[in-house]
Amino acid sequence: MTPSKLVILGTGGTIAGLSSSATDNIGYTAAQVGVAQLVEAIPALLAGGAVVTEQVAQLDSKDMDFAVWAALASRINDFLAQTDVCGIVITHGTDTLEETAFFLQAVCQPAKPVVLTCAMRPASALTPDGPQNVLDAAAVARHPGAQGVVVVCAGTIHGAIDVQKAHTYRLNAFTPGDAGPVGYVEEGCVRQLRDWPAGSGSGDHLAAVASGTATSWPQVEIVMSHAGARGKVVDALVSSGVQGIVVAATGNGTVHHALEQALLRAQAAGVQVRRSTRCAEGHVLPRPDDAIPDSKGLSPVKARIALMLELMGWPGTR
Ligand code: SIN
Repeated sequence: MTPSKLVILGTGGTIAGLSSSATDNIGYTAAQVGVAQLVEAIPALLAGGAVVTEQVAQLDSKDMDFAVWAALASRINDFLAQTDVCGIVITHGTDTLEETAFFLQAVCQPAKPVVLTCAMRPASALTPDGPQNVLDAAAVARHPGAQGVVVVCAGTIHGAIDVQKAHTYRLNAFTPGDAGPVGYVEEGCVRQLRDWPAGSGSGDHLAAVASGTATSWPQVEIVMSHAGARGKVVDALVSSGVQGIVVAATGNGTVHHALEQALLRAQAAGVQVRRSTRCAEGHVLPRPDDAIPDSKGLSPVKARIALMLELMGWPGTR
């Protein structure tokens, strides 16, 4: 029998936010409405089969933390192991959504679709965008052949590795950069443009993390290279016991000489260092004589997660 049960996990965000005025789209409090109540307001969701909801967290995603990530990975693996479940939708704030998506793809590599969705306007808005986003996300989660972790916002399907929040206010706040979208959702139908993210389905790419039993997460920090940069911040991090540093470098991975010297000292002292870029688009292109390894196309925030996971024994993204 084709699985048709859809699981919707709530974590908070603007999609669950409330404002005292229907015309105020910025002065709201995120994470106020429960996921069950959000889903009840979208009866069309039930047309495709049974829907189960679970509130995994209730927070503004700026405050996202490792415990919530571990709980999400664990619940995803539990639900996807059920043969009647077709896929999972996760309601999430937009601000760190790309980090959660990357983390879940790295750790779970789900063989069924796991679809993060969100809203730029609170639930109390005159015209909230959340309900349509959830409906579109459900269409992807129920789409035969879909797999891996994707993000659905404003009718566009983005892959977890590439997606980035690119706008502070517009409803289509996300971009997949050079990679382009995985596809679009149009009137409940998926129009696929490229492959879904990898979905090995083993579910335990990092068993301790995926089961929620990991107790200590490595300290990995991000520093930015900019005009007048100094090495003091790196020296202070090394003194504090940092295990990894990602530098958000300029252009194609260049680093201010003062910061670079400090990063090389950190590397020599055993700290893992990676070079990403401040540029919103493009990858740092590696050269054979690079003293500091590049981030393999990952943005600074994703390179940080990848390095944390690597330090925990994870084999790598690509
Ligand atoms: C959040 O990220 O939780 C708040 C902002 C948003 O969802 O747009």
